[in-house]
Amino acid sequence: MSVSPLRLGIAGLGTVGGGVVRLISEQSDLLQARCGRPVQVAAISALDQNKDRGLDLSAFDWHDDPVVMAGSDAIDVFVELIGGEGGPAKASVEAAIAAGKNVVTANKALIAHHGTALAIEAEGRGGSLNFEAAVAGGIPIVKAIREGLAGNNFSRVYGILNGTCNYILSAMRDSGRDFADVLNEAQALGYAEADPAFDVDGVDAAHKLAILTSLAFGCPVNLEAVHIEGIRQVSAIDIDFATELGYRIKLLGIARLMDQGVEQRVHPCMVTEESAIASVSGVFNAVVVEGGYIDKVVFEGRGAGEGPTASAVMGDVIDVARGNRLPTFSISADGLRTIQSTTMDHHVGPYYVRLTVIDQPGVIADISAILRDRNISIGSMLQRGRDPGEPVPVVLITHECKEKALTKAMEQISALKAVAEEPKIIRIEAL
Ligand SMILES: NC(=O)c1ccc[n+]([C@@H]2O[C@H](COP(=O)([O-])OP(=O)(O)OC[C@H]3O[C@@H](n4cnc5c(N)ncnc54)[C@H](OP(=O)(O)O)[C@@H]3O)[C@@H](O)[C@H]2O)c1
Repeated sequence: MSVSPLRLGIAGLGTVGGGVVRLISEQSDLLQARCGRPVQVAAISALDQNKDRGLDLSAFDWHDDPVVMAGSDAIDVFVELIGGEGGPAKASVEAAIAAGKNVVTANKALIAHHGTALAIEAEGRGGSLNFEAAVAGGIPIVKAIREGLAGNNFSRVYGILNGTCNYILSAMRDSGRDFADVLNEAQALGYAEADPAFDVDGVDAAHKLAILTSLAFGCPVNLEAVHIEGIRQVSAIDIDFATELGYRIKLLGIARLMDQGVEQRVHPCMVTEESAIASVSGVFNAVVVEGGYIDKVVFEGRGAGEGPTASAVMGDVIDVARGNRLPTFSISADGLRTIQSTTMDHHVGPYYVRLTVIDQPGVIADISAILRDRNISIGSMLQRGRDPGEPVPVVLITHECKEKALTKAMEQISALKAVAEEPKIIRIEAL
């Protein structure tokens, strides 16, 4: 008995879309065996029909308008690989959902901004919304949280969620060079976009973190609640001090469930050299999930690129082909419950503080007194070089303290005559 093929409509034929078309053509026998039915590209859409993509696309129905393709009876699954939080990506996904199609997307911006509303709509109409490729590329973290680890209460989910930032920080550490220099190199090598803001300012990682938070804690996706800092302010001297103190600096996305609510933050962190995440370097991503019955599970892999992202897209397509329909964010979308968000003022942790102070008697005593008055105790102190009357760096590692208290103390310390520059603060994350 012949079984009906699963027919895909693929919108976007760039890095990811091209990779998906290639994977399907190269792996068709394997896909058929694993799905129990053939998986076929039926229709495609992109901006320029005449562009040479190094692929034979002649057998597929071409659509200038992805919205029209999304509602076509000739497809079973709409695969959105255009990108962007609105525009044709959103319009076509909405059209596919309205037509009751299953949707697969790699679009983190779309899911981070509109994921909850789209999930409610998709589930209400009997379709599914799948976005494995939107978080950490080739790492099947959505599947892991939604399925393999679904028996756990999660306490914290965190990771290196942006390969460009991890590449830049790793290269800065290896070469001793500063951010701007390494960014230029990353752009020349194709690891960073011409406009790197989305990556280096932490926005891309925030999109992924907001999605992970919803999956792990069963709350609506809340991108606005994510505290976001990028890596532009990380300097070679801080990387150097971090190494001396036994730490690495990583841009982490961290979601933590606490008594006061859920904390979501993306910022540079100091992590100890022994932590699993410290050794994840270059363009690699890692995600760590902590839960009641698992202690922690660490996932590592390539977070971007044609092959890993196409692999993740196909994981979702295979689920649809097999008839696996799962609640979009681990629980049904209308069951997502708002959890109070905490602000960074309430954050408690140890901190790295680098001060630039004029080397003169009494200055360290003044700084210590301000910290003591705000209940901030110093775990260790490092002074590099002695140069009476000249500015020298002094590094303090605090014990756990409230961020609000530290911020206030830094305002006072900045006002001291002997403090030559704004203090530099990096949060230390106990992992
Ligand atoms: N690249 C990665 O490694 C990676 C990793 C994870 C997730 N993602 C996500 O995957 C998605 C696609 O990324 P990408 O890197 O493949 O982007 P890309 O290389 O820029 O490709 C975008 C594609 O969309 C097409 N397109 C643009 N506007 C369109 C419209 N109005 N109608 C139909 N097609 C249109 C473009 O057509 P033309 O080719 O004709 O210009 C192009 O083929 C994004 O959401 C991205 O965040 C990417």
